[in-house]
Amino acid sequence: MATQQASIADTASHARSAVFAGLDAADGRPDLFAPLSDGMSSAFAASARMVAQGIEASLPDAATLLALLPEALREGSAQGYARHLVHADPLARFSAMLIVWRPGQHSPVHGHQTWCAYRVLRGTLHERHYRWDAQQRRALPCGALTRTAGDTFSVPAGLRHIHALGNDSDEMAVSLHIYGVDQEHIGSGVNLLVDAA
Ligand SMILES: [Fe+2]
Repeated sequence: MATQQASIADTASHARSAVFAGLDAADGRPDLFAPLSDGMSSAFAASARMVAQGIEASLPDAATLLALLPEALREGSAQGYARHLVHADPLARFSAMLIVWRPGQHSPVHGHQTWCAYRVLRGTLHERHYRWDAQQRRALPCGALTRTAGDTFSVPAGLRHIHALGNDSDEMAVSLHIYGVDQEHIGSGVNLLVDAA
């Protein structure tokens, strides 16, 4: 496994404005591409599930993956959850990151611009779920789950799965995330930030 490692800042906010500008532009017109879009959603969801299965079947154990991070980076950052690139696919098809969550740190509420899958390597993460309300143009809470070390999940691209991840425990948490973007677009091409109730 390559051990390319770099910290990643999340610059997804501009993606939000671009996507929602597209939604606004489509108002009042028949969406000729809707059937194709629905089919692509299913394909992306299937891709994400296959990646999650690949994580379980092909990657080493948690201790080996955690060792990709230098000791100092395993302590996280007081500025917020810290993302570190640990692998970039040579063909630019996907990137892998380790995310270090200190107690009380959370992601923003977001959909996804690409498929992704993640595995909890250490500690416990809490995942809050939301559903997209197209009329209000915001996400409404619809449940929550606790993810423990060893749990692996996939998330399709789009607004069908909107969530926020975070560490509500008193212990450090670390998770591995695989995203369907090249390393240059992790900061801007993964999260799709949305307004939430
Ligand atoms: Fe996510």
